[in-house]
Amino acid sequence: MELKLFDVHAHYQDERFDGDRDELFEKMRADGVRGIVDSGDSAESSVKCIKTAEKYDFVYAAAGIHPLNVKYAKDGDIDKIRELLKHPKVVAVGEIGLDYHYEDTAPKEQQFYWLREQIKLAAETGKPIVFHDRDAHEDSFNVLKEASKMGVGGILHCFSGSVEMMREIIKIGFSISLGGAVTFKNARKTAEVAREVPLDRLLLETDCPYLSPEPFRGKRNYSSLIKYTAQKIADIKGISVEELCDVVYKNSIKIFGIS
Ligand code: NI
Repeated sequence: MELKLFDVHAHYQDERFDGDRDELFEKMRADGVRGIVDSGDSAESSVKCIKTAEKYDFVYAAAGIHPLNVKYAKDGDIDKIRELLKHPKVVAVGEIGLDYHYEDTAPKEQQFYWLREQIKLAAETGKPIVFHDRDAHEDSFNVLKEASKMGVGGILHCFSGSVEMMREIIKIGFSISLGGAVTFKNARKTAEVAREVPLDRLLLETDCPYLSPEPFRGKRNYSSLIKYTAQKIADIKGISVEELCDVVYKNSIKIFGIS
């Protein structure tokens, strides 16, 4: 039986796909990938994601400014993103969030400014957010609480927090997505999250070209490989991979309002 694969978070505008992007989309279609959300990380890259989504019926786009890019963001970018969100294939505001990992990123206040502006766009348009949190768990949770009070929901992508944090996130109406890292040997915490997360709040992603699941760790990732992540989570949960992919597919089209 063919698995129903849906990749809620991918970066196909990355230069590592420049040599074979179109071939790869055809291959993924043949591999049974039913849905991909190609995520922008700036106003410019979001436009490229939309172009790709226009070309392939199973590809959708997310438009947004990534926390690592806010230092390059310009006046008027919020208006640009607002316009892009009107496109029928733009299904989310993303990738947005907070990233305190690197020293040369924008200061917290600046990250918060762009994040809140984009959460307002999600509230205006009724679209979900795809949220990135790196080394910013506490601030992320607080800002997600604010978003939730504004009626905004969405996905915490590549979730790397604890089971306790996952439960808090779910309580305020968000879902989590897991990627290839759950297949890594040292992924004890993420494996625990995979076991405990309610099936109706779970999504799958590649975050490609990064984070290939085992046995492809270190190689370029792409959406067909999501089946290895799915298999690992199905094993952890003690259900079949078909059932897992089926539920995750339904969760994906529901959260993005795809019919
Ligand atoms: Ni990403």
